[in-house]
Amino acid sequence: MNSPQILDGKSVAAAVLDECRAETAELLAKGIQPGLAVVLVGSDPASQVYVGSKTRTCAELGFHSLKIELPAETTQEELLQVVRDLNADPAIHGILVQSPPPKHIDEEAVIREIDPRKDVDGFHPENVAKLVLEDPSGFVPCTPAGCMKLLEVSGINTHGAEAVVIGRSMIVGKPMALLLVSKISNATVTIAHSRSKDLPAICRRADILVAAVGRPEMVRADWVKPGAVVIDVGINRVPDASKKSGFRLTGDVAYQEVAPLCSAITPVPGGVGPMTIAMLMKNTLQAARQLG
Ligand code: GUN
Repeated sequence: MNSPQILDGKSVAAAVLDECRAETAELLAKGIQPGLAVVLVGSDPASQVYVGSKTRTCAELGFHSLKIELPAETTQEELLQVVRDLNADPAIHGILVQSPPPKHIDEEAVIREIDPRKDVDGFHPENVAKLVLEDPSGFVPCTPAGCMKLLEVSGINTHGAEAVVIGRSMIVGKPMALLLVSKISNATVTIAHSRSKDLPAICRRADILVAAVGRPEMVRADWVKPGAVVIDVGINRVPDASKKSGFRLTGDVAYQEVAPLCSAITPVPGGVGPMTIAMLMKNTLQAARQLG
Protein backbone atom coordinates (compact mmCIF):
# COMPACT_ATOMS: atom_id res chain seq x y z
CA MET A 1 0.00 0.00 0.00
CA ASN A 2 1.38 3.40 -0.90
CA SER A 3 0.06 6.96 -0.76
CA PRO A 4 -0.84 8.16 -4.19
CA GLN A 5 -0.28 11.66 -5.48
CA ILE A 6 -3.65 13.39 -5.12
CA LEU A 7 -4.33 15.40 -8.25
CA ASP A 8 -5.78 18.52 -6.67
CA GLY A 9 -8.05 20.05 -9.30
CA LYS A 10 -9.08 22.85 -6.98
CA SER A 11 -5.60 24.33 -6.69
CA VAL A 12 -4.66 23.73 -10.35
CA ALA A 13 -7.95 25.36 -11.41
CA ALA A 14 -7.18 28.32 -9.14
CA ALA A 15 -3.83 28.76 -10.92
CA VAL A 16 -5.53 28.58 -14.35
CA LEU A 17 -8.07 31.17 -13.20
CA ASP A 18 -5.20 33.46 -12.09
CA GLU A 19 -3.84 33.27 -15.65
CA CYS A 20 -7.34 34.01 -16.94
CA ARG A 21 -7.60 37.05 -14.67
CA ALA A 22 -4.37 38.47 -16.11
CA GLU A 23 -5.52 37.85 -19.67
CA THR A 24 -8.92 39.40 -18.97
CA ALA A 25 -7.15 42.57 -17.78
CA GLU A 26 -5.18 42.68 -21.05
CA LEU A 27 -8.35 42.31 -23.13
CA LEU A 28 -10.20 44.94 -21.06
CA ALA A 29 -7.31 47.34 -21.70
CA LYS A 30 -7.96 46.82 -25.43
CA GLY A 31 -11.65 47.58 -24.92
CA ILE A 32 -12.79 43.94 -25.12
CA GLN A 33 -14.81 42.48 -22.23
CA PRO A 34 -15.05 38.70 -22.63
CA GLY A 35 -18.72 37.65 -22.62
CA LEU A 36 -20.19 34.19 -21.94
CA ALA A 37 -23.85 33.19 -22.26
CA VAL A 38 -24.97 30.03 -20.46
CA VAL A 39 -28.37 28.63 -21.43
CA LEU A 40 -30.23 26.20 -19.18
CA VAL A 41 -33.47 24.60 -20.33
CA GLY A 42 -35.51 23.04 -17.51
CA SER A 43 -34.60 22.65 -13.86
CA ASP A 44 -32.34 19.62 -13.50
CA PRO A 45 -30.79 20.23 -10.03
CA ALA A 46 -27.23 19.18 -10.96
CA SER A 47 -27.32 21.32 -14.12
CA GLN A 48 -28.53 24.28 -12.03
CA VAL A 49 -25.48 23.89 -9.76
CA TYR A 50 -23.06 23.69 -12.73
CA VAL A 51 -24.61 26.69 -14.49
CA GLY A 52 -24.49 28.67 -11.23
CA SER A 53 -20.76 27.90 -10.82
CA LYS A 54 -20.03 28.86 -14.41
CA THR A 55 -21.75 32.26 -14.19
CA ARG A 56 -20.24 32.95 -10.74
CA THR A 57 -16.74 32.28 -12.05
CA CYS A 58 -17.38 34.61 -15.00
CA ALA A 59 -18.35 37.39 -12.59
CA GLU A 60 -15.23 36.79 -10.46
CA LEU A 61 -13.01 37.22 -13.53
CA GLY A 62 -14.76 40.37 -14.71
CA PHE A 63 -16.45 38.78 -17.73
CA HIS A 64 -19.79 39.90 -19.05
CA SER A 65 -22.01 36.99 -18.13
CA LEU A 66 -25.51 36.12 -19.20
CA LYS A 67 -27.48 33.30 -17.57
CA ILE A 68 -30.56 32.39 -19.60
CA GLU A 69 -32.91 30.04 -17.78
CA LEU A 70 -35.74 28.70 -19.93
CA PRO A 71 -38.71 26.58 -18.85
CA ALA A 72 -38.67 22.84 -19.57
CA GLU A 73 -41.53 23.35 -22.08
CA THR A 74 -39.38 25.62 -24.31
CA THR A 75 -39.79 24.49 -27.92
CA GLN A 76 -36.97 23.55 -30.25
CA GLU A 77 -37.66 26.63 -32.37
CA GLU A 78 -37.68 28.96 -29.35
CA LEU A 79 -34.32 27.57 -28.23
CA LEU A 80 -32.86 27.87 -31.74
CA GLN A 81 -33.98 31.52 -31.77
CA VAL A 82 -32.23 32.18 -28.43
CA VAL A 83 -29.03 30.73 -29.94
CA ARG A 84 -29.41 32.84 -33.11
CA ASP A 85 -29.82 35.98 -31.01
CA LEU A 86 -26.67 35.13 -29.03
CA ASN A 87 -24.78 34.44 -32.28
CA ALA A 88 -25.67 37.98 -33.37
CA ASP A 89 -24.86 39.64 -30.01
CA PRO A 90 -21.43 41.33 -30.22
CA ALA A 91 -21.11 41.39 -26.40
CA ILE A 92 -21.19 37.58 -26.34
CA HIS A 93 -18.06 35.62 -27.33
CA GLY A 94 -19.00 32.23 -25.91
CA ILE A 95 -22.29 30.31 -25.94
CA LEU A 96 -22.97 27.20 -23.89
CA VAL A 97 -26.24 25.27 -23.80
CA GLN A 98 -26.12 23.05 -20.72
CA SER A 99 -26.45 19.34 -21.44
CA PRO A 100 -28.61 17.31 -21.16
CA PRO A 101 -31.62 19.32 -22.40
CA PRO A 102 -35.20 18.00 -21.96
CA LYS A 103 -36.00 14.94 -24.11
CA HIS A 104 -38.07 16.79 -26.75
CA ILE A 105 -35.06 18.95 -27.69
CA ASP A 106 -32.85 17.84 -30.60
CA GLU A 107 -29.51 18.66 -28.98
CA GLU A 108 -27.51 17.99 -32.14
CA ALA A 109 -29.51 20.59 -34.05
CA VAL A 110 -29.04 23.13 -31.25
CA ILE A 111 -25.27 22.59 -31.24
CA ARG A 112 -25.12 23.00 -35.01
CA GLU A 113 -26.94 26.33 -34.69
CA ILE A 114 -24.21 27.80 -32.44
CA ASP A 115 -21.69 29.91 -34.35
CA PRO A 116 -18.59 27.65 -34.24
CA ARG A 117 -16.49 30.72 -33.38
CA LYS A 118 -18.57 31.05 -30.17
CA ASP A 119 -18.82 27.31 -29.43
CA VAL A 120 -16.71 27.33 -26.24
CA ASP A 121 -17.92 23.80 -25.42
CA GLY A 122 -16.20 22.51 -28.56
CA PHE A 123 -19.24 20.41 -29.50
CA HIS A 124 -19.96 21.87 -32.99
CA PRO A 125 -18.90 19.54 -35.84
CA GLU A 126 -16.45 22.20 -37.06
CA ASN A 127 -14.65 22.17 -33.70
CA VAL A 128 -14.81 18.37 -33.49
CA ALA A 129 -13.08 18.29 -36.90
CA LYS A 130 -10.44 20.74 -35.69
CA LEU A 131 -9.77 18.52 -32.67
CA VAL A 132 -9.26 15.53 -34.99
CA LEU A 133 -7.01 17.65 -37.21
CA GLU A 134 -5.13 19.04 -34.17
CA ASP A 135 -5.90 22.58 -35.35
CA PRO A 136 -5.41 24.86 -32.32
CA SER A 137 -7.88 27.48 -33.60
CA GLY A 138 -10.72 25.13 -32.55
CA PHE A 139 -12.21 24.80 -29.07
CA VAL A 140 -11.37 21.70 -27.04
CA PRO A 141 -14.23 20.39 -24.85
CA CYS A 142 -13.70 21.69 -21.32
CA THR A 143 -13.71 18.50 -19.26
CA PRO A 144 -11.14 16.56 -21.31
CA ALA A 145 -9.07 19.74 -21.67
CA GLY A 146 -9.15 20.00 -17.87
CA CYS A 147 -8.04 16.37 -17.47
CA MET A 148 -5.10 16.96 -19.83
CA LYS A 149 -4.08 20.13 -17.96
CA LEU A 150 -4.18 18.25 -14.67
CA LEU A 151 -1.93 15.51 -16.09
CA GLU A 152 0.46 18.08 -17.55
CA VAL A 153 0.74 20.24 -14.43
CA SER A 154 1.22 17.15 -12.27
CA GLY A 155 4.19 16.05 -14.37
CA ILE A 156 2.54 12.83 -15.57
CA ASN A 157 4.17 11.51 -18.71
CA THR A 158 1.68 10.39 -21.35
CA HIS A 159 4.23 9.63 -24.07
CA GLY A 160 4.08 5.98 -25.02
CA ALA A 161 1.73 5.28 -22.10
CA GLU A 162 -1.12 2.82 -22.41
CA ALA A 163 -4.30 4.86 -21.79
CA VAL A 164 -7.80 3.46 -21.40
CA VAL A 165 -10.82 5.76 -21.53
CA ILE A 166 -14.08 4.26 -20.25
CA GLY A 167 -16.96 6.10 -21.94
CA ARG A 168 -17.52 7.22 -25.51
CA SER A 169 -19.55 10.42 -25.05
CA MET A 170 -19.01 13.44 -27.27
CA ILE A 171 -18.57 15.55 -24.10
CA VAL A 172 -15.76 13.53 -22.51
CA GLY A 173 -14.83 10.04 -23.78
CA LYS A 174 -14.20 10.63 -27.48
CA PRO A 175 -12.43 14.01 -27.18
CA MET A 176 -10.37 12.68 -24.25
CA ALA A 177 -9.19 9.77 -26.39
CA LEU A 178 -8.30 12.17 -29.24
CA LEU A 179 -6.28 14.40 -26.91
CA LEU A 180 -4.38 11.46 -25.43
CA VAL A 181 -3.50 10.05 -28.87
CA SER A 182 -2.56 13.47 -30.31
CA LYS A 183 0.99 14.28 -31.39
CA ILE A 184 1.36 16.37 -28.25
CA SER A 185 0.55 13.49 -25.86
CA ASN A 186 1.51 10.35 -27.80
CA ALA A 187 -0.40 7.85 -25.66
CA THR A 188 -1.68 4.53 -27.02
CA VAL A 189 -5.42 4.73 -26.47
CA THR A 190 -8.26 2.26 -26.02
CA ILE A 191 -11.84 3.52 -25.79
CA ALA A 192 -13.93 1.11 -23.72
CA HIS A 193 -17.66 1.30 -23.04
CA SER A 194 -20.66 -0.56 -21.63
CA ARG A 195 -20.58 -3.16 -24.43
CA SER A 196 -16.84 -3.85 -24.18
CA LYS A 197 -16.00 -7.48 -23.52
CA ASP A 198 -14.22 -7.99 -20.18
CA LEU A 199 -13.99 -4.33 -19.18
CA PRO A 200 -11.92 -5.08 -16.03
CA ALA A 201 -9.23 -6.81 -18.12
CA ILE A 202 -9.07 -3.88 -20.56
CA CYS A 203 -8.76 -1.41 -17.68
CA ARG A 204 -6.00 -3.45 -16.03
CA ARG A 205 -3.80 -2.69 -19.08
CA ALA A 206 -3.93 1.04 -18.39
CA ASP A 207 -1.03 3.17 -17.21
CA ILE A 208 -3.56 6.01 -17.37
CA LEU A 209 -7.20 5.12 -16.70
CA VAL A 210 -9.92 7.70 -17.36
CA ALA A 211 -13.40 6.84 -16.06
CA ALA A 212 -16.21 8.83 -17.67
CA VAL A 213 -19.31 6.66 -17.50
CA GLY A 214 -21.56 8.19 -14.84
CA ARG A 215 -21.88 4.98 -12.79
CA PRO A 216 -21.03 5.43 -9.10
CA GLU A 217 -17.92 3.52 -8.02
CA MET A 218 -17.95 1.20 -11.03
CA VAL A 219 -14.16 0.95 -11.22
CA ARG A 220 -13.00 -1.43 -8.48
CA ALA A 221 -9.54 -2.27 -7.14
CA ASP A 222 -9.17 -5.35 -9.36
CA TRP A 223 -9.70 -3.17 -12.48
CA VAL A 224 -6.58 -1.13 -11.79
CA LYS A 225 -2.94 -1.94 -12.51
CA PRO A 226 -0.73 -1.13 -9.51
CA GLY A 227 1.00 2.21 -10.12
CA ALA A 228 -1.62 3.46 -12.60
CA VAL A 229 -2.78 7.08 -12.83
CA VAL A 230 -6.57 7.24 -12.38
CA ILE A 231 -8.65 10.18 -13.59
CA ASP A 232 -12.22 10.07 -12.30
CA VAL A 233 -14.57 12.22 -14.35
CA GLY A 234 -17.78 10.98 -12.68
CA ILE A 235 -19.82 13.28 -10.45
CA ASN A 236 -22.66 11.06 -9.23
CA ARG A 237 -25.27 11.92 -6.64
CA VAL A 238 -25.98 8.98 -4.35
CA PRO A 239 -28.60 9.08 -1.59
CA ASP A 240 -27.11 9.73 1.87
CA ALA A 241 -29.49 10.34 4.77
CA SER A 242 -26.65 11.72 6.92
CA LYS A 243 -26.28 14.76 4.58
CA LYS A 244 -28.48 17.83 4.77
CA SER A 245 -28.92 17.72 0.99
CA GLY A 246 -29.91 14.02 1.18
CA PHE A 247 -27.09 12.98 -1.15
CA ARG A 248 -23.32 12.80 -1.43
CA LEU A 249 -21.13 13.08 -4.48
CA THR A 250 -19.12 10.12 -5.62
CA GLY A 251 -17.05 9.39 -8.69
CA ASP A 252 -17.02 6.48 -11.13
CA VAL A 253 -14.12 5.00 -9.16
CA ALA A 254 -14.34 3.22 -5.79
CA TYR A 255 -11.83 5.69 -4.36
CA GLN A 256 -11.19 4.06 -0.97
CA GLU A 257 -10.09 0.75 -2.42
CA VAL A 258 -8.49 2.05 -5.64
CA ALA A 259 -6.42 4.98 -4.29
CA PRO A 260 -3.88 2.84 -2.37
CA LEU A 261 -2.97 1.06 -5.64
CA CYS A 262 -2.43 4.19 -7.73
CA SER A 263 0.57 6.39 -8.32
CA ALA A 264 -1.86 9.31 -8.75
CA ILE A 265 -5.63 9.80 -8.56
CA THR A 266 -8.19 12.59 -8.76
CA PRO A 267 -10.59 12.98 -5.82
CA VAL A 268 -14.34 13.57 -6.25
CA PRO A 269 -15.24 16.31 -5.58
CA GLY A 270 -12.24 18.58 -6.08
CA GLY A 271 -10.54 16.78 -8.96
CA VAL A 272 -11.78 17.13 -12.53
CA GLY A 273 -14.88 19.23 -11.67
CA PRO A 274 -13.13 22.54 -10.92
CA MET A 275 -10.89 22.05 -13.98
CA THR A 276 -13.91 21.96 -16.30
CA ILE A 277 -14.99 25.44 -15.25
CA ALA A 278 -11.45 26.83 -15.44
CA MET A 279 -11.05 25.52 -19.01
CA LEU A 280 -14.41 27.03 -19.98
CA MET A 281 -13.07 30.41 -18.90
CA LYS A 282 -9.91 29.79 -20.95
CA ASN A 283 -12.01 28.88 -23.99
CA THR A 284 -14.10 32.02 -23.57
CA LEU A 285 -10.94 34.11 -23.52
CA GLN A 286 -9.77 32.32 -26.69
CA ALA A 287 -13.10 33.18 -28.34
CA ALA A 288 -12.86 36.82 -27.24
CA ARG A 289 -9.30 37.04 -28.60
CA GLN A 290 -10.20 35.40 -31.90
CA LEU A 291 -13.41 37.37 -32.45
CA GLY A 292 -11.85 40.65 -31.24
N1 GUN B 1 -23.05 18.86 -19.11
C1 GUN B 1 -22.05 18.19 -18.48
N2 GUN B 1 -20.84 18.68 -18.88
C2 GUN B 1 -21.11 19.66 -19.78
C3 GUN B 1 -20.27 20.53 -20.54
O1 GUN B 1 -19.04 20.49 -20.50
N3 GUN B 1 -20.93 21.41 -21.34
C4 GUN B 1 -22.28 21.45 -21.44
N4 GUN B 1 -22.83 22.34 -22.27
N5 GUN B 1 -23.08 20.66 -20.76
C5 GUN B 1 -22.50 19.77 -19.92
